[in-house]
Amino acid sequence: MNEIVSKQIIGPAVYRIEISAPRIAKRHQAGNFIMLRIDETGERIPLTVADTDQEKGTVTLVFQAVGKTSEQLGAMEVGESLLDFVGPLGKPTHIEKMAGVAICVGGGIGVAPVHPIAKALKQAGNRVISIMGARAKELLIMEEDMKRSSDELLIATDDGSYGHHGFVTDVLDKVIQREGAENVGLVVAIGPVPMMRACCKTTEPYGVETVVSLNPIMVDATGMCGACRVTVGGETKFACVDGPEFNGHEVDFDELTKRLRMYLEDERAAMERYNHEMKDHKRCYES
Ligand code: FAD
Ligand code: FES
Ligand code: MG
Repeated sequence: MNEIVSKQIIGPAVYRIEISAPRIAKRHQAGNFIMLRIDETGERIPLTVADTDQEKGTVTLVFQAVGKTSEQLGAMEVGESLLDFVGPLGKPTHIEKMAGVAICVGGGIGVAPVHPIAKALKQAGNRVISIMGARAKELLIMEEDMKRSSDELLIATDDGSYGHHGFVTDVLDKVIQREGAENVGLVVAIGPVPMMRACCKTTEPYGVETVVSLNPIMVDATGMCGACRVTVGGETKFACVDGPEFNGHEVDFDELTKRLRMYLEDERAAMERYNHEMKDHKRCYES
């Protein structure tokens, strides 16, 4: 159980791994995430279920190595197993057949959590327009998956190396104008906090419902510890049980940004220790 059955490197420090987890694969719904722990000494981290294969009983995770635990996970090989793999967690996305078009926007690694939502919206009979963005072409991930899960896929790169030269928000604005705001049923925007905030600013004047998926630090992911608290519509919510998806027009993004920076020094120190340990490990092997 919890064995890595396939592994691909799909971008700079971006990994796609398939884990054997038949129970989670069966129960998963778009918008769910899992919590994993690599070994007894490790911390628990949340990752979105990017895809599932019920026949094989596997769950696909797509993640970027940004710190100690994600680096360690990226270094694991096929055949190795994770100590804990808990899920599906979080409220699933509200999926229904809408009168209007659904627009799914994914920025950077945010394409991974957007993918199952686009797929489920399309399976429910909606017309899905997806917009993917990254700093440059080589940082775009899951283009083929997104093509399959959308009726139309538009791409934006900050440096103009592929698709529209500019931000996903430029494309989002053009699509809303082209379709007519009254014909847009829903916008789902997932990615870095500044990108989600900019998407909400773009859709607000049009009065288009906009859902974002928040990524606060999570510790227990059962609503007990309070680590993941966010303010939405002036109320305190726990992203792990009340979310992670919320109405983007009501999210206090300033507070979320501040809370995400809280452990920056500890995260840097953990990474330095990890790099040190890896160097020692390599030296032992070489000598
Ligand atoms: P660290 O150096 O410890 O931290 C780097 C940054 O990662 C932090 O500044 C913080 O922003 C974030 N982070 C660290 N620990 C946690 C934690 N316990 N909970 C939440 N965020 C944390 N990333 C992906 O690449 N792919 C995904 O599909 C994905 N899905 C997510 C779904 C949810 C619901 C949430 C809350 C986060 C998701 N993330 C995803 C972010 C991922 O959890 C972090 O990148 C990961 O925890 C980093 O851990 P680290 O030890 O490698 O890095
Ligand atoms: Fe503890 Fe959400 S992670 S309450
Ligand atoms: Mg960490």
